[in-house]
Formats: sequence, structure tokens, C-alpha cells
Amino acid sequence: MADNEDRTEGARFAASVPQRHEPFPLKGCGALDWGMQSRLARVFRPDTRRTVMLAIDHGYFQGPTTGLERVDLSIVPLLPWADALMTTRGMIRSTIPPASRVPVVLRASGGPSILKELSDEQLAVGMEDAARVNACAVAVQVFIGGEHETQSVRNMTRLVDAGQRYGIPVLAVTAVGKELTRDARYLRLATRICAELGAHFVKTYYCERDFDTVAAACPVPLVMAGGRKLPERDALTMAYHALSCGAAGVDMGRNIFQSDTPQAMIRAVGAVVHESLKPEDAYDRYLRG
Ligand code: R5P
Repeated sequence: MADNEDRTEGARFAASVPQRHEPFPLKGCGALDWGMQSRLARVFRPDTRRTVMLAIDHGYFQGPTTGLERVDLSIVPLLPWADALMTTRGMIRSTIPPASRVPVVLRASGGPSILKELSDEQLAVGMEDAARVNACAVAVQVFIGGEHETQSVRNMTRLVDAGQRYGIPVLAVTAVGKELTRDARYLRLATRICAELGAHFVKTYYCERDFDTVAAACPVPLVMAGGRKLPERDALTMAYHALSCGAAGVDMGRNIFQSDTPQAMIRAVGAVVHESLKPEDAYDRYLRG
């Protein structure tokens, strides 16, 4: 046994140097357990503390969405440019290559299809299974002002309790029904409720007026939802403004995978998020591919 044969006393104690300890400096996460911080440091790039999440979980309530008919063909080639992939356990196990090493944000709520009342969701994944697929976070829809508001909040708080046990962060996805106005006042309300009740980060839509107040009032990181497909220049501009107002990244789906050139688009989005590239320059980069 080499250790027993050569046991010398160590001398490099550096007794006068205070021990270093560097918690992951992400908004609101300083008091989280090590596992939580470690997982968040996989979703949010440590050098910029921002993220480009690619959202492809649409099938969980609306089936094979345009652009997601064949995830193996349309999405897997984009994974090298995604900081994290928001998807379902079915898609992970059937289609996402484990060797891609992409951190997964696992969709953990569901139930109703587009044919029914969407806010009537339940938890759809246990935390143990989230750990089994190596999820770096789990995502749950929260319908503030929706018909099943309390039930969806309860889904989130149950998931947070389970996440705390396993060290897996929870992403609250604030859903906006057709009847609700996406203004700063509503978004402040929805995102703050999610954070107060334990969500570790929150996904929210962008609003043109006062989005900085939404970000400021939310004590944990906000990621901007993409929403319906926009012209590429507009989507890049929206992302730029959201980040300038304090968002910590984007969680975009259709604006990436429904683009004419998804690979160029995800790279342009990445340049906005991680290099703070201005919208015109990012669009130019998109055009150059
Ligand atoms: C909606 O609430 C879900 O989270 C979506 O399935 C998805 O994440 C939305 O992405 P996008 O609106 O950018 O296509």
C-alpha cells in the first residue's frame, strides 16, 4: 500500500491564508444547498451567470408542434448551443442522447391537453425520477389568475418541498391565459408569488413597459419566455431588452426551432445573452449563419 509506505507530514497548510469559499453568485441563490447551487451553475453559465434554455416541452399539452415533429432531427443538432434543454421525461428517454451532456430542465407538471382547461394541471413527475434522469431543475406551470390558480400554486409548492429534499431547483413557469393582460403589474404579481413560495428561478413573458420593475421585484433569476414565433429581428430585440432590464437569460422555443435557420438563430440568441450583442448586430450574425 503506497500510502502506508510513504507517510510524510504535509507542509502546505498556508495557515495565514483564509480558506476560500465561492458560492455560485447567482441572484438569490447564496443560501441554497451545495447541490442546488451546483445544478444552477450548470443551467446558468458561470462566466456570465446567464442562460440560453431551449424549450421543447410543447408536446406535453399540444402534441407534435411545428418544428418538433422529429426532435431527433430538428433539436438534437442544436444541443451544442443550448445551455440547457427544457423537455419531458418521455423525450429525454426516447430521443435525447445522454452523451450530449446538455443539462436538462424537466417538465414536471401536466394533465390537460389544448382541448381542455389548461390550468387544471397536476404534478406529472416524481422528484426521484427527476434525479434518475439527472435533471438539473424541474419546471412547473403556475396559473396566477387562472381558473385553477390555487391548485397550480400547490403543485409548485409540493415540487419545491421535494426539490429541497433532493437538491433539485424548481423553475416556476408563469402562464398567461388569454383573458389576462401581460403588463408589468400582472407579471410582477405572478413572478413574485412564485419566488415567495419557493421557486428557485422563474420563467416569465416580456412586456415592453417597465419590465425592469418585474426583474427588480423578483428576488430570484428571471428567464424570458419566447412565446409565439416572431420575425427573427424582433425576437432578438425582445431578448436584448429583457436582458438589459435584468433577466438572467431566455427560455425560447418556437422562436428558435421554427426559425428558417434554427442553428443560426440559437447562436444569435446566445450572442445576445452571453455577449450582450446589440439586436442589429445579432440579426446580422443570424443572417450570416
Ligand atoms: C409553455 O408554457 C411551455 O413552457 C411551453 O411549452 C414552452 O416552454 C414555450 O416556449 P415558447 O413559447 O418559447 O415556444
